[in-house]
Amino acid sequence: MKTLKTETRGRVALLTLNRPEALNALNSELMGELREAMATYGTDDRIGAIVLTGSEKAFAAGADIKEMQPRDYVGAYVEDLFEGWSAVASMRKPLIAAVSGYALGGGCELAMMCDFIIAADTAKFGQPEITLGIIPGMGGSQRLTRAVGKAKAMDMCLTGRMMDAAEAERSGLVSRVVPAADLIATAMAAAEKIAGFSMPATMMIKESVNLVDETGLAEGLRFERRLFHSLFATEDQKEGMAAFIEKRKASFKHR
Ligand code: HXC
Repeated sequence: MKTLKTETRGRVALLTLNRPEALNALNSELMGELREAMATYGTDDRIGAIVLTGSEKAFAAGADIKEMQPRDYVGAYVEDLFEGWSAVASMRKPLIAAVSGYALGGGCELAMMCDFIIAADTAKFGQPEITLGIIPGMGGSQRLTRAVGKAKAMDMCLTGRMMDAAEAERSGLVSRVVPAADLIATAMAAAEKIAGFSMPATMMIKESVNLVDETGLAEGLRFERRLFHSLFATEDQKEGMAAFIEKRKASFKHR
């Protein structure tokens, strides 16, 4: 692939956005390659978790402005511009964003499509679309508001200002902040840990947590309980609990 580097380490796939000349601006080629990677690793039984990262300077500086600038309304609407990125949001296996440097506009939105974000202390998040005469278009107004609340989301989207890693952690946008030099190792270790667990269980956690954004509490609790019940049909539940009782490490079959 040209704009995406892919490698696997054990049960983890590491995907690195690779358009250094444009600070990993998200163009249609990159979207296509990322979709392909999602399809490949999403169906590969040997992969249990995925880490998505960029470069030291930029996770991604947004949608590619040079590609977008000449677009017109009818074309954008008919093509349903940017719908293709939903392949990332709908990935069923755990997906961690490892963010160093700029995560702006579509870059911030791409990171938010992942299940959680681990940030380097150099990370900067922002939705600067307003400075270009547009608004977030890959879910920013929705996911950022759910992550950090109305006040911060309005501030970020209306002023276009950036949030540093410390503010992002305080606000709930990222799960942890680590020194930049430790970013990939930390994200890979988290992914390896996840990939070692029972895959139906990790997938169900993801499905259940994500339902919070789509439903009310009563329906969400019922859904979670039904998934919970279903895990008692798996060998991994028997093994996981037996291992605890027998004081040994679990050996999950459905990894
Ligand atoms: C296209 C981009 C780009 C982008 C940077 N580049 N961001 N190209 N689209 N989003 C290119 C620059 O044109 C430049 O190319 C090269 O990358 C290096 O960028 P510089 O600006 O020279 O770097 P620097 O001075 O360090 O500034 C970094 C920066 C700045 C603060 C991140 O590049 C910047 O403000 N970028 C735009 C950020 C933005 O507005 N993002 C939102 C995009 S809209 P050349 O060829 O000149 O060397 C968006 C909409 C989402 O994401 C809605 C739906 C997807």
